[in-house]
Amino acid sequence: MGMDAEFWLSRWREGRIGFHEGRPNDLLVSHARALGPPGRVLVPLSGKTEDMAYLRSLGHEVVGIELAEAAAEEFFREHGLEAAPSPRGALVERSAGGITILQGDFFDARPEDVGAITAFYDRAAIVALPPELRPRYAAHLRELAGEDAPGLVICFEYPQERMAGPPFSVGEDELRRYFPAVERLEDRRTEGPQSRASGIDMRERLYLVGGHRAEPI
Ligand SMILES: C[S@@+](CC[C@H](N)C(=O)[O-])C[C@H]1O[C@@H](n2cnc3c(N)ncnc32)[C@H](O)[C@@H]1O
Repeated sequence: MGMDAEFWLSRWREGRIGFHEGRPNDLLVSHARALGPPGRVLVPLSGKTEDMAYLRSLGHEVVGIELAEAAAEEFFREHGLEAAPSPRGALVERSAGGITILQGDFFDARPEDVGAITAFYDRAAIVALPPELRPRYAAHLRELAGEDAPGLVICFEYPQERMAGPPFSVGEDELRRYFPAVERLEDRRTEGPQSRASGIDMRERLYLVGGHRAEPI
């Protein structure tokens, strides 16, 4: 198991999950329509986010992928759902009420493990990964979701040299290297404990990526 995995598992073990919002993300609520009609939405690096329940409430089936067993267990327990674990490829699947969480390493998930995905939603996922992992992450995400699936991606942008991630700064130029079409839907100032402490200007930006062809067919 890599160092990065151990970093996240220890955060779950110690309850250091400040990233967990405990309610649907407001940018998702404002723009969920961009994910298309009810389908099957992939939520990479899902934690136990309420966004999965929110997407389900819109009629989507939801597939989260998350390293920490505690996150998967807590999600279903907190929603009063029974979800027994069973093996799914290299991961462990728990599924109830239209929501599946595949517990294990995102990079070990295969397309046949997640099923036919219509859209994806990345909050605190690409920005949780160090620069050297992000190209691989994006390529794997596109492999799992399919080339035509649209995705909503929430990024932070700030002077990386002034603050250590995560969350890391991921700019629009970088996203354009990974995804065929990138449209910025929101751009606002934000702050977190780290950026506040260091007096850093931090922006939060929502993008719609992929899913639309450059030329009409
Ligand atoms: C910053 S948290 C965000 C969780 C969730 N998206 C949210 O908004 O609350 C990042 C999550 O990614 C998980 N994670 C990190 N690396 C992973 C990997 N390689 N495979 C699966 N999950 C991973 C961590 O355990 C953690 O729960």
